Amino acid sequence: MGKSAFLIYHVPKKRYSSSFKAFFFFLPICLGFTTFFLVLIYIYTTSGVLTNPHSSPYLEPTKNSTLIEQTIPFSIDNTAEDLFFDLPRTPNYAKQSQWSISDLFRSIGDSMNNTDIYHDTDIFLEDYKEMNKSFKIFVYPHTKDDPFANVLLPVDFDPKGHYASELYFKKALFNSHFITKNPNEADLFYMPFSIAEMRHDPRIGPEGLQDFIRTYIFNISHKFPYWNRTNGADHFYVACHSIGRVAMDKAVEVKFNAIQVVCSSTYFVAGYFPHKDISMPQIWPKERDPPSIFLSKRRKQLAFFAGSVNSLVRVALLKHWRNDSEIFAHFGRFKTDDGEQLLRSKFCLHVKGFEVNAARITDALHYGCVPVILANHYDLPFADILNWKSFSVIVHYMDIPVLKKILQGISLDEYSWLQSNAVKVRKHFHWNVPPVDYDAFYMAMYDLWLRRSSIRVRLTASLEYM
Ligand SMILES: *[C@@H]1O[C@H](CO)[C@@H](O)[C@H](O)[C@H]1NC(C)=O
Ligand SMILES: *[C@@H]1O[C@H](CO)[C@@H](O)[C@H](O)[C@H]1NC(C)=O
Ligand SMILES: *[C@@H]1O[C@H](CO)[C@@H](O)[C@H](O)[C@H]1NC(C)=O
Ligand SMILES: *[C@@H]1O[C@H](CO)[C@@H](O)[C@H](O)[C@H]1NC(C)=O
Ligand SMILES: *[C@@H]1O[C@H](CO)[C@@H](O)[C@H](O)[C@H]1NC(C)=O
Ligand SMILES: *[C@@H]1O[C@H](CO)[C@@H](O)[C@H](O)[C@H]1NC(C)=O
Repeated sequence: MGKSAFLIYHVPKKRYSSSFKAFFFFLPICLGFTTFFLVLIYIYTTSGVLTNPHSSPYLEPTKNSTLIEQTIPFSIDNTAEDLFFDLPRTPNYAKQSQWSISDLFRSIGDSMNNTDIYHDTDIFLEDYKEMNKSFKIFVYPHTKDDPFANVLLPVDFDPKGHYASELYFKKALFNSHFITKNPNEADLFYMPFSIAEMRHDPRIGPEGLQDFIRTYIFNISHKFPYWNRTNGADHFYVACHSIGRVAMDKAVEVKFNAIQVVCSSTYFVAGYFPHKDISMPQIWPKERDPPSIFLSKRRKQLAFFAGSVNSLVRVALLKHWRNDSEIFAHFGRFKTDDGEQLLRSKFCLHVKGFEVNAARITDALHYGCVPVILANHYDLPFADILNWKSFSVIVHYMDIPVLKKILQGISLDEYSWLQSNAVKVRKHFHWNVPPVDYDAFYMAMYDLWLRRSSIRVRLTASLEYM
């Protein structure tokens, strides 16, 4: 090794002066040292970024995962995301950092300049009108006689529970003016299979999902010409249960090409792509509106959380705030309806569990409670339309130890601003039968419309020029 390395720099003796030789001997060494120091400086500065609470929430410390395993008192099925959550560092973090409330408010102050709940209200309203007028969807036709009609046709009841969004969307779309029977007129193609119905169909079940989807794509791509034209890029499906993501594993063109409208929109794991896919809110339908959500006197509690401890983020929350008198964190299933708690709290925590999907954000908005989001790598619902900073507080995992400081530091004025906006966006997180302008259905349609034009293919185009 040493010999061959030396040979590279070996210069015949007689033909060069000794200073010239020395130059060629030291130059590579100097370059080597310079590079080494530059790398050191780089590591030093970037590791500073990693401990800075105001760095990008997507920069995660990467550490030996065995460290994390040792600190977990019980066995949980960690997702890849959890493994990058540096738990051992957290307790020291609050002490070490030069964390300042004014930094936070500088950032809140910036977003307060755009007091709107939309990134750009004018563009949104104008585009929305255009979308409402011209957007056309072709639905793959299935009849009542199809053995899987239950999976492929809309349900005739009002959907309930956690995953209702999927069935609400389908019901609304089938009855809407967006449907066209003419595929040449269609901007997008809808594959109406329902993950929720498949899970409960004994012929399919969670184990049969992947084969069903593969066969479905095989069927439509042989029977119709549309899939093959773009390899699925102008097709979409809708799923609310997180299992929808793995359901595409035997039909990867769906995952990589089609538009996935899903509630479980975490892009840490491969399979969700924010520019292509759509984050749809998870909505637990509520019977009626709660009374007097603005009555701030009632909101005596700083923050509320309820849920099981099934992720490292929740372990950290438990560790720091289990006994707190102002942050009420209930671990485990909440026995009674938690509506009263959501009405009593200023802030309601949405904390990543096994998955990021849960109806908590929508529940918080429903009760006029400002959502606090602790879910790194979560593409927030309708984030390309809504200005989430105007009605929620987004907190990095590493700031769990200073969570109370952050929330207490939000002034009454700022809180009223956040809360009034939270109430304004409620209509976007609501399903109606029939759908109402700007509700969850129309928002999902608008997001689909934003993703349509560049991939539009008209069957007739080639014929017109013949
Ligand atoms: C992590 O640390 C353990 C114990 O210190 C060590 O045995 C293991 O090889 C390390 N793993 C990696 C990927 O560095
Ligand atoms: C927001 O407004 C404040 C004061 O009105 C101003 O100092 C600040 O520069 C503004 N920020 C942005 C991003 O426009
Ligand atoms: C959208 O279209 C529906 C049906 O044509 C119509 O009733 C509604 O007023 C439209 N909304 C807007 C904002 O254009
Ligand atoms: C695919 O087509 C076959 C033959 O028409 C049919 O029996 C089967 O149910 C279809 N499967 C799916 C998943 O669409
Ligand atoms: C679509 O492509 C597949 C695979 O290349 C092929 O078997 C099928 O016949 C094509 N479908 C149509 C309608 O041409
Ligand atoms: C919470 O209370 C329990 C039992 O009363 C105690 O063991 C634990 O250390 C407390 N945790 C915190 C974070 O104060």
